[in-house]
Amino acid sequence: MRLLVVGGGGREHALAAALAADDPTHVLYVAPGNPGTASFATNLSIAADDIDRLADAADAHAIDLVIVGPEVPLAMGLADRLRAEGRHVFGPVAAAAQIESSKAFSKDVMVAAGVPTAASRTFDDLDAALAYVATHPEPLVVKASGLAAGKGAVVCATRAEAVDALRAMMGDHQLGHAGDVVVIEAFLEGEELSVLAITNGRDVRLLPAAQDHKRIGEGDTGPNTGGMGAYTPVAIATPAVLERITQDVLLPTLRELERRGAPFRGVLYAGIMLHPDGTPNVVEFNCRLGDPETEVVLPLVRSGLSALLDAAAKGEPLPKIDLIDAAAVTTVLASAGYPASSSKGDLITLPATLDEGVTIYHAGTALNKDGRLITNGGRVLAVTAVAATFAEAQALSRDTAAAIQFEGKQFRRDIGWREATRVVSR
Ligand code: AMP
Ligand code: GLY
Repeated sequence: MRLLVVGGGGREHALAAALAADDPTHVLYVAPGNPGTASFATNLSIAADDIDRLADAADAHAIDLVIVGPEVPLAMGLADRLRAEGRHVFGPVAAAAQIESSKAFSKDVMVAAGVPTAASRTFDDLDAALAYVATHPEPLVVKASGLAAGKGAVVCATRAEAVDALRAMMGDHQLGHAGDVVVIEAFLEGEELSVLAITNGRDVRLLPAAQDHKRIGEGDTGPNTGGMGAYTPVAIATPAVLERITQDVLLPTLRELERRGAPFRGVLYAGIMLHPDGTPNVVEFNCRLGDPETEVVLPLVRSGLSALLDAAAKGEPLPKIDLIDAAAVTTVLASAGYPASSSKGDLITLPATLDEGVTIYHAGTALNKDGRLITNGGRVLAVTAVAATFAEAQALSRDTAAAIQFEGKQFRRDIGWREATRVVSR
């Protein structure tokens, strides 16, 4: 097949690498890609949100299947445009992508579909939001409704913190228009799971469940980020839990989207808070693969990935994928200042050799004028290790992350700490 992967982060590097491994005869383009994807695919110098040029490139390169990594082009209608031109696209149309691009829409769908989620109210007026907070039990959560690159949710221990968050979003417009509408919701107790469901709009095939680490600091401290590391499998994601999530969350949501005339083809990502009693609640939906979850989940797919994505894009019955029975851990390396800002242009030194099972995915990197690898964004690299046991994968990922050098490097040494505290049989 002739494939075009849209995006240029660690997720797209892992996606393109998995597709290349799945079938070496694929002709693979990535737009814009990064220095990591350049080593095995053809990078096209087109931004991931340049809908016109992406559509032209799909024509020019006779692409059979476009696979969209990030949410922004989906929310902008890339899939609508390509489908209208008769192309197959893995990724939902804009009306369905609202499940991520509008938390207000997402909450509305969940309530209509009876999907378990935190009780919430939506506001477009600061004073009304402040009045609601004044009587809300603590802790509580304030979320910008629009897209905010994973930084739009503020978990507030007190009402005073919620007032500050509301003023920042709705008064000072610190997240731009993303914060014009906010959702205020009850705090959910439990442990988070990222469930990635490949769907043709009706049925789902789950990728192995993963756990992300959203906070910048070890021990889950500091502000939220796009994700500082992930691992899979997760012991608490038992087959019974995943079946319950499929029946109570994923399938009703897909049915409700179809009922609204917005059938969803692509990957429906459910961010689940699993209560200690086993009850799943949806924290958020995303309309795309997770980053860095993709960097641990896709390396465990032995075969069948291209056929699955192709069938989902075409609305056909979903074939099975074959998984490797192993554990994977990824550690993200971020640049100085992340998540508040990011640093660019610092020289990166990678280890001369990598241990077996270790892959370094590029996220925010570039080449300088001398052809040397430099930092080029907040999240710079994701270091994935695949090994027979969780403990081995964790140590390999952490040690390789420690060996990579660049000025101001930030990373967490505790990725998978919850799994490490469990008695794991594997
Ligand atoms: P979101 O942008 O909705 O994914 O939220 C980002 C992060 O904030 C989540 O991954 C959770 O760690 C936390 N969070 C969001 N909503 C809640 C909630 N209702 N209860 C507890 N934590 C939450
Ligand atoms: N890792 C969280 C996300 O992709 O939204």
